[in-house]
Amino acid sequence: MRLAVIGCGYVGLVTGSCLAEAGHEVMATDNDPVRIGMLNAGRLPIYEPGLDKVMESAIAAGRLRFTSDCAQAVTPADAIFICVGTPPLESGEADLSAIDNVARQIAAASRSPKLVIEKSTVPAQTGEQLRHALHVYGRSKGATFRVASNPEFLREGTAVGDFFHPDRIVVGVEDVESEAQLREIYKPFLEGRFHCPVHEPKCPAGPAPVFLVTTIASAELIKHASNSFLGLKISYANLIADLCEKLGGNVEEVTRAVGLDPRIGPHFLNDGLGFGGFCLPKDIQAFIRLAEKNGIDFSLLKEVEAVNKRRIDQFVEKVRRALWVVKEKTVGVLGLAFKPNTDDVRFAPAIEVVRRLLAEGATVRASDPVAMERARPLLNGAAFVADPYEVAHGADALLLLTEWKEYRELDWKRIYREMARPLIVDARNMLPPAKMKELGFEYHSFGRPDLTANTVLTL
Ligand SMILES: NC(=O)c1ccc[n+]([C@@H]2O[C@H](COP(=O)([O-])OP(=O)(O)OC[C@H]3O[C@@H](n4cnc5c(N)ncnc54)[C@H](O)[C@@H]3O)[C@@H](O)[C@H]2O)c1
Repeated sequence: MRLAVIGCGYVGLVTGSCLAEAGHEVMATDNDPVRIGMLNAGRLPIYEPGLDKVMESAIAAGRLRFTSDCAQAVTPADAIFICVGTPPLESGEADLSAIDNVARQIAAASRSPKLVIEKSTVPAQTGEQLRHALHVYGRSKGATFRVASNPEFLREGTAVGDFFHPDRIVVGVEDVESEAQLREIYKPFLEGRFHCPVHEPKCPAGPAPVFLVTTIASAELIKHASNSFLGLKISYANLIADLCEKLGGNVEEVTRAVGLDPRIGPHFLNDGLGFGGFCLPKDIQAFIRLAEKNGIDFSLLKEVEAVNKRRIDQFVEKVRRALWVVKEKTVGVLGLAFKPNTDDVRFAPAIEVVRRLLAEGATVRASDPVAMERARPLLNGAAFVADPYEVAHGADALLLLTEWKEYRELDWKRIYREMARPLIVDARNMLPPAKMKELGFEYHSFGRPDLTANTVLTL
């Protein structure tokens, strides 16, 4: 099928590349000409493991192309995936101006019937607005539009594998023709007929994805409801960690046992610095505002958000207490991305932590395996250093802010020797406290017993 993908960010590039690799003809477009220039030169504007291989293979097969001319992508397409950003407005509501803008462009460039698919995360009832906008903007052109919602559940860092092996494919439709078209688009994934570069030579056996057909409003709600629940699990684990610190429990033991209950499940019961990134924080905010606008007080989610915001205060307070005076101290930071295996620093808790320390007069030396370039413009005054041992050199404290595997595997004896004061504050509970103490470190993390042993850090 001939497909257009509008928006070449994390979601658009993964969607376009994987659909092309699975056999469709894809023309992807973006209103950022620099981005399209990079893509046409064979360079990826984002870091996403495995994406380079899929993209190269799809381009080599002649099935994936990029253009900065939206009409060139839209005019020949049978179906169009909208993958543009939906960032939060000041009010917390989703900013849908990029969707509106794209609707105008689609309407202007369409001469034949189109299926227009929302893949961007949008509040319920956006589909209706989109259908109306397409109709109004395209009224004199004679093209007809059907609208569908196909929320994306990929996770940055494992996005390619997630797209090839989803647990569910949700399609919100209004008519059987749209359902049939979406089934056709996803047929290779439903039948396991594609080349997956993530699991060469062979993908592990697993169940086929569930293809869920819903109304458009349900599909839109499913995405917000899923992300909100994930945030809820993290905030829940964070409050358990707080209790553990006060009462001498170990949050890892508690959440492990709780998660073994199949009604609860282990995933996302992770305490630490809280959630960030371009999805959970903004989607929860948007869901709260959507509920509010419809007369429902989703106070449960307001609390999830409040608990999450407090994590940064609590962490900075841990650093303050451990350092005593922050001003003029040299603080090393390992990890800036909102999670490992991505260069995405949007709403990353690490960025906010560094900003606060800089504001308190600390000298910050920060590192990240792939996110330093994206973090640089956000952190005026911080120094960026690639080598973690250099980050530790002469530091009064070392903060672990993103759980990159590389950091677990550092030579911690060497780090000990490099530091002016062997103090580690681990926001992600990455390292074993007993071992760190054995090595001579003063080591603090969240919700684990040796934190409370000398009660220096109880909050
Ligand atoms: N990043 C994720 O992990 C993820 C996962 C699931 C869903 N989503 C949702 O998918 C959407 C996109 O997220 P993302 O992370 O890919 O965002 P992104 O910011 O990485 O990419 C958006 C792209 O759209 C382009 N764009 C904006 N307006 C445009 C326009 N009018 N015409 C053409 N291009 C335009 C931007 O230049 C950018 O390249 C959001 O709604 C997000 O909530 C994201």
